[in-house]
Amino acid sequence: MCGIVAYIGQRDACPILLEGLKRLEYRGYDSAGIVVNRGGALLMQRAVGRISALEQKLDARMSGPNAGMAHTRWATHGAPTELNAHPHFGDGKRLALVHNGIIENYRVLKTFLEAKGVTMESDTDTEVLAQLVGHFYEGSLGDAVRQALREVRGTFGIAVMHANEPDVIVAARRGSPLIVGIGKDEYLVASDAAAIVQHTTQAIYLSDNEVAVVSRNGFHTTTLDAAPVSKKVEELEMTLEQIELGGHSHFMMKEIFEQPDSIRTCMRGRIDHDTGRVVLGGLTSVNKELLHTKRIILTGCGTAWHAALIGEYLIEDLARIPCEVEYASEFRYRNPILEDNTAVVAISQSGETADTLAALREARDKGALALGIVNVVGSTIARETDAGVYLHVGPEIGVASTKAFTGQVTVLAMLAAYLGRRRHLSAGECNEFLTSLDGITDSIKRALESDGAARRVAEEFQDAGNWLYLGRGAQYPVALEGALKLKEISYIHAEGLPAAEMKHGPIALINPGMPVVIIVPRGHWYEKTLGNIEEVRSRGGRIIAVATEGDRQIAKMAEHVLYVPDVPEALQPLVTVVPLQLLAYHAAVARGCDVDKPRNLAKSVTVE
Ligand code: AGP
Ligand code: GLU
Repeated sequence: MCGIVAYIGQRDACPILLEGLKRLEYRGYDSAGIVVNRGGALLMQRAVGRISALEQKLDARMSGPNAGMAHTRWATHGAPTELNAHPHFGDGKRLALVHNGIIENYRVLKTFLEAKGVTMESDTDTEVLAQLVGHFYEGSLGDAVRQALREVRGTFGIAVMHANEPDVIVAARRGSPLIVGIGKDEYLVASDAAAIVQHTTQAIYLSDNEVAVVSRNGFHTTTLDAAPVSKKVEELEMTLEQIELGGHSHFMMKEIFEQPDSIRTCMRGRIDHDTGRVVLGGLTSVNKELLHTKRIILTGCGTAWHAALIGEYLIEDLARIPCEVEYASEFRYRNPILEDNTAVVAISQSGETADTLAALREARDKGALALGIVNVVGSTIARETDAGVYLHVGPEIGVASTKAFTGQVTVLAMLAAYLGRRRHLSAGECNEFLTSLDGITDSIKRALESDGAARRVAEEFQDAGNWLYLGRGAQYPVALEGALKLKEISYIHAEGLPAAEMKHGPIALINPGMPVVIIVPRGHWYEKTLGNIEEVRSRGGRIIAVATEGDRQIAKMAEHVLYVPDVPEALQPLVTVVPLQLLAYHAAVARGCDVDKPRNLAKSVTVE
């Protein structure tokens, strides 16, 4: 959520900043703003709503300057109004600041500043920080930022400019990502690589409590106490093509259809059939600890939590290690008991989710081995873990997570086999599983053929206000994920339940005409799930089944069937989720919803 992009170089800053903001749009925001330094004065423009609204307000005076900053805000303090949008001014409008995150002690700081005669124009915590930096400004922006940040509690990624220093942008972070992109005679500061990747793929990642003073000729980084820090220039793992639509109408659709390829990339070089082993380079350093691991806790939020529930089945089944799944948001406050030899695995697409990060830190503080399953390379969670496995599914732009989910399940399957093989799985047994996993990309491709059928079902039921999703075993988390997708992008109320739990209460909800999605692939829960179908049918519910190709029995019981290919039971979630992603997508399109930018949601939830 929320985004920062700043530019200093030789070119006209404004178009670069607007383009950068558009690349950040997918993260979710409610207002946006831009500031440039024109001949020693700061010119600012802000607007509520889309970037296009901001664009319309820009006049010719904004063009020309070659230093500026822009921001997409996702309000935490103060309503999403123009006055609250960033940038915020300090030092009598000579200083501008954009901020991602939350200043927790803003009230105390505000009282302090007001006592000094400063008046605030907005309700934000950010303006307090802008004014505080302004308060300390005595000719060096770098010094003022460092001094102000030493007083601050909370999280921030910030970029700051001062009218007196047209050749400087100061950036700093704590708990909110920020990178400095290095171009030819130009520099970009951004909270997300997507905003700068078309200009450069060379960047440094700021760490917590680091400040970068960036000019046209270079940059230098220090701690908050001005101790110099040297940074490694890294190559951004993202190409422009990866973040463009490639002929699809929405990123979500592009990402759903990318899954055969993204899963192939996720597995590339990681499966060794000769030895029946999984090669996970990111775990080499903790190989020994993993051998002695007696308990695993998987933690994450939303879709990542659903992937974790499937991971629990896989790990317990293949590795026979007791495994638990915890919402990161609960785990962090629960004072969990972490005995010796416990590994905590944080699962996160963005690697920036505040709750997941806090859960990870809690686990580390208590001595657990902290592992990560993360997509965004170089993200905070990836950096703070002892070891981990990247998804390598490419950037996920759609707010509703799809290819990251299948990537997470694939990594969990590989992790389960990796741990299993080091315990009791023979090379043969492990190889058998890995061969099926290898073949899953073709099966996902076939599952995508349910697209037309999913669209017809979605169009027929688009006006139904309530849906149920039912599944047993590892299909229960798939039901949860299917329901979440529908809720997120089409705003239809949907609930996912273990099919057998229905009779303990939720069955009361079923009334004639209610769409009930039942995930019933062939396997050892098949017959029992058929029983649940009967329970729904006899109460007038309308059955949409996700079933195995060639299953004729189901065609007689369900009104619609979305077929998926036959795959080993342990891997079924990787194919059964596909028609549910498509169903949600088409329902949202049919209802005219903004699929890639659903209301109230942000791509990554970096605040509590
Ligand atoms: C998924 O569709 C959601 N938008 C959301 O539940 C997401 O999975 C959750 O916020 C966790 O994000 P993360 O994977 O980036 O940590
Ligand atoms: N807390 C700040 C605000 O409400 C920043 C929000 C954001 O990260 O966009 O303005």
